[in-house]
Amino acid sequence: VSILLFALGCVHCSITCCSSAEVNKHFFPPGFKIGVANAAPQIEGAWNEDGKGETIWDRYAISQPDTIYDHSSPQVASDSYHKWREDLEMVKEMGVDHYRLSIAWARIYPDGYKTDKPNERGVAYYKNLLRSLRALNIEPMVTLYHWDLPQKLQDDFGGWLSPKIVDIFADYARTCFELFGDEVKWWTTINEPKQICELGYGSGVFPPAINLPGVGNYQCAKNVLLAHAKAYHIYDKEFRQKNQGKVSIVIDTIWFEPNTTKPVDIEASERALQFSFGLYGNPVFNGDWPAVVKARVAQRSKQAGLKKSRLPTLSPEEIALINGTHDFLCINHYASHMVSALSDEPPFTDTSFDADIGVNDSIPSEWPKGGEAWFAVWPPGMRKLLVWLKNTYNNPEIVITENGFSDNAGTLEDDHRINYYRDYVSNCLDAIYIDNVNLTGYTAWSILDDWEWRVGYHSLIGMYKVDFNDPNRARTPRKSAGYFTQVAKNRCLVD
Ligand code: NOJ
Repeated sequence: VSILLFALGCVHCSITCCSSAEVNKHFFPPGFKIGVANAAPQIEGAWNEDGKGETIWDRYAISQPDTIYDHSSPQVASDSYHKWREDLEMVKEMGVDHYRLSIAWARIYPDGYKTDKPNERGVAYYKNLLRSLRALNIEPMVTLYHWDLPQKLQDDFGGWLSPKIVDIFADYARTCFELFGDEVKWWTTINEPKQICELGYGSGVFPPAINLPGVGNYQCAKNVLLAHAKAYHIYDKEFRQKNQGKVSIVIDTIWFEPNTTKPVDIEASERALQFSFGLYGNPVFNGDWPAVVKARVAQRSKQAGLKKSRLPTLSPEEIALINGTHDFLCINHYASHMVSALSDEPPFTDTSFDADIGVNDSIPSEWPKGGEAWFAVWPPGMRKLLVWLKNTYNNPEIVITENGFSDNAGTLEDDHRINYYRDYVSNCLDAIYIDNVNLTGYTAWSILDDWEWRVGYHSLIGMYKVDFNDPNRARTPRKSAGYFTQVAKNRCLVD
């Protein structure tokens, strides 16, 4: 970042920051929002308390413990349902602007369906939490759906595989807008649809464990997009004027770096990004599925002798309903992979998502690894992704809704996590100042250790350690908590 920025930065930055020998001249632009995040099913616990219904993750982990790495379940998790006051103090202590959390659908409507009265104790929990955040002057950013589908909706009609989910989700969204709209100005509808659809209804490695490769994932994608779009329009028509908030959907992607500068490898990278982010981003930002996704799935379906493409069509009305349903672009990003073109097309009988994408995906051995197999650290990927989003979606306002580092050791001296945050945030600042990306917010995942889905407590990702062997779930700050506090309070990137 240039000398000019250093000069500008000094004007905006606090004295501590400017006088510190640690400063590396990376100042956040005025108004930039810095936050921390987590989600209900990963930290709340209290899985069946105060009228909460069962979710697909409760059922899956409790009834089939072998599917979870350490046989744990979200029953207690970080116990934030009881310790939320302490958690908000930690958030406050960090000096951040916002806190991203999610509402557990099954706390509001235990079976998922709208009823005459939402579950009072569930509503009270979120009202207290949100009002306390406001009192602490921390902006809530609320996700309506972070993977915790009420089990009944899966049992009754197949969850996200059925178009029935669309109106049921829209009803739940309206209830949340009504109940919490005064407190919440930043809404996100659905978190990481790719993981919901591909892992839940394609490969089936996440609950509800439906194994319909290349079919279930696309059917789910369409329903997720329609559900998001309906919720967006409800907010737009019924709440926007009164509540003055913003709504979007949170999409995740790895950055796929081409292995060489050969056009086929650059094409492979673009294709992987279109299947990964574009499958959801293109309908919302540009209208319809990405052209390359439509063409490849249609062609592979035809070659396999199917009469229709495995990718459902979006009608002109559906395209119009979904297109433009964003007030900003939310991106979750953690890792990069290398990609190159395949020398042979995968067999057409292989309907998996990976075969549809059709690239060689690898991780260089020299890239540091996080707590799970996909987690390869390559900070330049963040900047490249932000530039790709800017160019592909017409320079939208972008907010990073998740970025952070997991490991398996969980040590308090987590210098590797500090390095991760420093290098990833540094790339964000370069994207802002050098590439003119309209990035207005950054959210670190996670404020505290959580229940990491299929890997349970094997992967630790918090700036605060949670002792999962302690019935009290004691929290202890890691070194990274101190680092991130300095960054947030000084509003500049500290070395
Ligand atoms: C993204 C998901 O939204 C979140 O739930 C998860 O904990 C992180 N990835 C880290 O794996």
